[in-house]
Amino acid sequence: MNETKEAVGQADQFEQAEVIQVVATPQSTARVHREHRTTIGECRVDNPRMRCTDVNVFYDDKQAINNVSLDIGENEIIAMIGPSGCGKSTFLRCLNRMNDTIDGCRVIGEILMGEENINDPRIDVVPLRASVGMVFQKPNPFPKSIWENVAFGPKIHGLYDHKSELEEIIVTSLQRAGLWDEVKDRLDQPGTGLSGGQQQRLCIARTIAVEPEVILMDEPCSALDPISTAKVEELMMELEEQFSICIVTHSMQQAARVSRRTAYFHLGDLIEVGETEQIFRNPQHQLTEDYITGRFG
Ligand SMILES: Nc1ncnc2c1ncn2[C@@H]1O[C@H](COP(=O)(O)OP(=O)(O)O)[C@@H](O)[C@H]1O
Ligand SMILES: [Mg+2]
Repeated sequence: MNETKEAVGQADQFEQAEVIQVVATPQSTARVHREHRTTIGECRVDNPRMRCTDVNVFYDDKQAINNVSLDIGENEIIAMIGPSGCGKSTFLRCLNRMNDTIDGCRVIGEILMGEENINDPRIDVVPLRASVGMVFQKPNPFPKSIWENVAFGPKIHGLYDHKSELEEIIVTSLQRAGLWDEVKDRLDQPGTGLSGGQQQRLCIARTIAVEPEVILMDEPCSALDPISTAKVEELMMELEEQFSICIVTHSMQQAARVSRRTAYFHLGDLIEVGETEQIFRNPQHQLTEDYITGRFG
């Protein structure tokens, strides 16, 4: 047996409970070995809004996600962290079938939302993408007025009967996105004319206007200045009362500030998941520790 195999064998002998005991002592530095690839920590929650089981993703022949099982809890912010190219965006896109839009991308596994496997090809992705909305790294308002940006989704999904109801949806969405006061006097002006931070909040307003259950955010603050970032983070924490939010971030400070749970990915594997505080203060996997202490990535 070569050294690596032996190490894997040893790591596999750990039971999760034992591992927790081993590292629970603050002075202990025992960690699960770097070669260990089964997720450490509890991937399940009591109140899942989405439940992923054995999710694998391929780009043609190349596997980008390996057997990931993870719950997205109700009304929680979960952060996905890990080095560039480890599969965070790929995994996030599984949750609203955005990988369907990429040629050669195949997603295998079960992704339950309620009783429904949203990875079933028969699922209609249009309502799914309203229930599981997405906010991207680069704010991408439509080349339309601020009003029309928010009205777009409710119109497409037929969420109102009368114009007055649409107005209410728009006002409420902009208020909840913390943008109303800044735009109420110029709703007819183009969304693209707003500052970057305002555009991102407009995209969040557009997402929440269709009453999603889950909001996916892929590095939503990477293109924003620190003040806009702080506003978006504050907004996320308010929205957590109502929605589940999955945020991919390369900022560990951001993950630590906003999220309740953190999932650490490495080369397509979900290495470790747990309460954010535990992940940052007392990671149990060597790879997680290497990453959060800046030794890797
Ligand atoms: N459209 C694509 N076509 C082929 N390979 C891709 C595509 N998108 C991502 N990948 C590959 O999948 C892996 C994971 O990428 P990604 O999910 O973008 O990682 P992250 O978001 O963590 O940086 C990488 O090896 C990347 O090169
Ligand atoms: Mg990415």
